Amino acid sequence: MRRVEGSLNNERHALDKLESHPYHGPSALALGLARALFLGAFQAMGNLVVIGAQWGDEGKGKIVDILARDVDAVVRYQGGSNAGHTVINERGTFVFHLIPSGILYHGTLCVIGNGVVVDPASLIEELDHLQTQGVKIGKNFVVGQRAHLILPYHKAIDKASEQSKGSRRIGTTGRGIGPSYADKISRIGIRMGDLLNPKVFRTKLEENLVEVNWFVEKLYKMERFEVEKVFQQYMGYADRLKSHIVDTVMLVNKMIDRRKTVLFEGAQGTHLDVDFGTYPFVTSSSSTAGGASTGTGVGPTKIDAVLGIAKAYTTRVGSGPFPTELTDAVGGGLQARGKEFGSTTGRARRCGWFDGVVVRYATKVNGLTSLAVTKLDVLDGCKELKVCTGYRYQGKLYRDMPADLQALTDCEPVYKTFKGWSGSTTGATTYKQLPVEAKRYLQYLEDLSECPIDMISTGSKRSETIILRNPLKTRPRAR
Ligand code: GDP
Ligand code: IMO
Ligand code: MG
Repeated sequence: MRRVEGSLNNERHALDKLESHPYHGPSALALGLARALFLGAFQAMGNLVVIGAQWGDEGKGKIVDILARDVDAVVRYQGGSNAGHTVINERGTFVFHLIPSGILYHGTLCVIGNGVVVDPASLIEELDHLQTQGVKIGKNFVVGQRAHLILPYHKAIDKASEQSKGSRRIGTTGRGIGPSYADKISRIGIRMGDLLNPKVFRTKLEENLVEVNWFVEKLYKMERFEVEKVFQQYMGYADRLKSHIVDTVMLVNKMIDRRKTVLFEGAQGTHLDVDFGTYPFVTSSSSTAGGASTGTGVGPTKIDAVLGIAKAYTTRVGSGPFPTELTDAVGGGLQARGKEFGSTTGRARRCGWFDGVVVRYATKVNGLTSLAVTKLDVLDGCKELKVCTGYRYQGKLYRDMPADLQALTDCEPVYKTFKGWSGSTTGATTYKQLPVEAKRYLQYLEDLSECPIDMISTGSKRSETIILRNPLKTRPRAR
């Protein structure tokens, strides 16, 4: 790995600071000073998009939590409460569904952008829960007026539609994501801003329920939705949330104009993207880097770097093709050691070998500038490791992701085999600590993915991380 040994000492120093950094607490002034000094030392900080390079659950939450210390705002740009981002630190375990993973830092503005679909009930539940965990939420949290709402009928239709599909079901989270985005694109969506105007909200709801009720009664044999009941329920949510609902488009743009640093936190992953993923087994939003622009109103020229998060192996929740899936004891071992159970639905995640075709595709469609490889520790104790380098289908070798779902479903993965390591990577904080076989493995992942590795995660805690280079520092446009 090119840069590894040389840059290690500096980065180790940066990580020491990370570990001792306080969250919300009495020392806000000291914190501000330390922050200013730190930022002064690293002038060239850029606006960064963090995305999942596989099928979600790559560890985005952990990485965003680490990087959020040095940014002024963390912005979610797509998805909704289908996401589950886990952050583990000395104060406990936090699972974020809608709220950006930067909320634990004092002074970091957390924004839900226009590209997100918001279930206000879920948002309020999350806010309440975080407050019981001692997280202060006030002016540091805003939701875009243009973000679309998830309404009770979206959740009901999501579940009923899945049920009616039988074996062809997508395995959605049942959070109403698809139906809400469908309404947005059909131009009948109701937005966060409408919560502030009861008359407008009621008119839109009345109009929508005419069609929705016909549909749910006739097709799904479900109970109809009453205008008054939904209206009252949502006006209650409006009361609770109104102080947070603002025009986030100009807010974020003005921060960027004032040279503040913004981190865009993606949800799901590249292969769940509605355009580039394994359609139709995808989510309904643009989870790739382009979504950061459309989901926030920040132009692509204002984005400096894109960090892809990839597990050292692969997982997937829900249905759809997964060429390197292991349905044997090896896969079971990854699932058990990696605690691969969904943070939103609790479902078991399917596990398999690292897939270079999948991650290289993510490098291309997101324009990745670097990678963070997570969960390396989970591979400790594996005698042998395999990495997929291509797919064989009907006599043809595919080096790139085929658009044809059938090819992806029926292909044979082509593997390169590696010797595992007998030592431990768990909790390693420097590259030097890693066994030579682990270094060899990482080097290969980097080459195959055609993207440099900036960070390596060796455990769920924020301190269990090797930082080779700070992804927020702008990189010369060499690639
Ligand atoms: P996200 O949706 O991409 O934020 O990922 P999730 O939070 O849904 O899933 C990742 C899981 O792996 C969480 O339980 C994390 O605490 C955990 N995790 C993250 N990085 C590591 C790591 O390097 N090693 C181990 N063992 N666990 C990790
Ligand atoms: P994070 O942000 C993993 C999957 C679902 C299903 C498909 C469509 O934690 O990485 P949806 O409810 O979005 O309509 O479901 O997408 N899915 C995820 N898988 N991580 C996620 O989010 C996911 N969000 C949705 O399992 O297969
Ligand atoms: Mg997750």
